[in-house]
Amino acid sequence: MATHICRRRFPRAWLCRGAMRGPGRHYRAALCAELKKPLVVGQVAPRPVLPHEVRVDVHFCGVNFGDILVCRGQYQEKPHLPFTPGMEFSGTVLETGTDVGTVKEGDRVIGVSHFNAMAEECITDQKTLWQIPEKLSLREAATLPVTYGTAILALEHRAHTKPGETVLVTAAAGATGLAVIDVATNVLQAKVIAAAGSDEKCKLAMQRGAQLSVNYSRGSLKEAVQQLVGSGGVNVAIDMVGGDIFLEALRSLAWEGRIVVLGFAGGNIASVPANLLLLKNISALGLYWGRYQLQNFPVFSKSLHSALQYYHQGRIQPYVGKVFKLEELTVSYDLLVEISGEQHPAACPSEATTTSGSVMLSFMFYSANPQERCYSLSNKSSPQQQIQHVQIQTHHLSPKPDFPSVFLKVLSTFFLTQV
Ligand SMILES: NC(=O)c1ccc[n+]([C@@H]2O[C@H](COP(=O)([O-])OP(=O)(O)OC[C@H]3O[C@@H](n4cnc5c(N)ncnc54)[C@H](OP(=O)(O)O)[C@@H]3O)[C@@H](O)[C@H]2O)c1
Repeated sequence: MATHICRRRFPRAWLCRGAMRGPGRHYRAALCAELKKPLVVGQVAPRPVLPHEVRVDVHFCGVNFGDILVCRGQYQEKPHLPFTPGMEFSGTVLETGTDVGTVKEGDRVIGVSHFNAMAEECITDQKTLWQIPEKLSLREAATLPVTYGTAILALEHRAHTKPGETVLVTAAAGATGLAVIDVATNVLQAKVIAAAGSDEKCKLAMQRGAQLSVNYSRGSLKEAVQQLVGSGGVNVAIDMVGGDIFLEALRSLAWEGRIVVLGFAGGNIASVPANLLLLKNISALGLYWGRYQLQNFPVFSKSLHSALQYYHQGRIQPYVGKVFKLEELTVSYDLLVEISGEQHPAACPSEATTTSGSVMLSFMFYSANPQERCYSLSNKSSPQQQIQHVQIQTHHLSPKPDFPSVFLKVLSTFFLTQV
């Protein structure tokens, strides 16, 4: 392996990045050094790729709810400290291991990783990379794995949604909700009722393909749905909120309806009244998309292939809500925590949450010109951003003040609901 590494040709972008950082080819990464503390940006010494592995120059990385949970120690999987979060990314292949045959240097890819994607480089198994079509930008591509993978498995693999059926989706303007709308409407030819917590979100959901919408901060979801579709109900409900919203979605189902539970953003898990299942021959289903990677990889992989194929066919259009630089990582985390916390309309009706769609981290804030892609860490950091730069070798990482504790309760509840 050592011989292989010495002999191989270093990609230009990689050399360029390392050139400004003194000895070694260090790259920057978000680091969780201490649970429940804000992340820091560190410099990491790269390791050699194993025969089946691929080193990717990460351009964009999704910031997902699960990333926050893992940094708080509230996720199912608990990596050793310090670790780099991040489950999905897009970028170009820098280097391939000796046994890799699926991708080559320079290929544009999306990937799924075990909490190491929030870095300029990411090493992953070749089987968790998918090449992307030319017309798909790396920015949009990075939104596909978690949100579209989940939407596709929920609608197709679990609910078996058919053309012409009516799909009710809650948290419809969130990252996953918008993907559900896109796939249901534009791929499956279903009719979507978007349910969300503000008029702005309902408007966005309608712009993104929903045919009808309900602002559930204004009253009963079930009654609103009934007014829209009559007493017959909807065929499929995709719920990400939980609690009373889940129960109202369940009660909105038609004969032989299917409800798929994706999450509990509202913080409460409802018990299923089994009599409702019996009376209308209803199916209550769950989906944990990431788990398919371990339990049934072909299904997991197919969800990514399908997303890419749908994009290639011009049938889906990912929606990027906000893009942050690595230096703004804590801002992006705070944003996600904020939109999942007390300011939710249900808790505070006068304050509508504003952020919709996918939240991304960009590693491409510098020029597209490779020569100008070299940068100095010290030039890019600002005091306001309050990010600390550290050397990972020392593992001496100084934590910033804690995330607002009011959100801890919400996230704890959320985590409990995920196991
Ligand atoms: N099972 C899986 O495999 C899987 C995969 C992806 C995501 N998920 C889960 O699905 C949920 C949504 O994910 P996402 O990526 O779409 O997240 P997101 O973009 O952050 O959206 C979350 C949405 O949840 C809604 N919500 C309802 N009650 C809330 C509350 N009390 N606090 C905060 N938000 C509340 C909000 O929409 P409104 O204001 O419109 O209510 C918010 O926009 C999360 O629970 C996530 O973990 C599960």
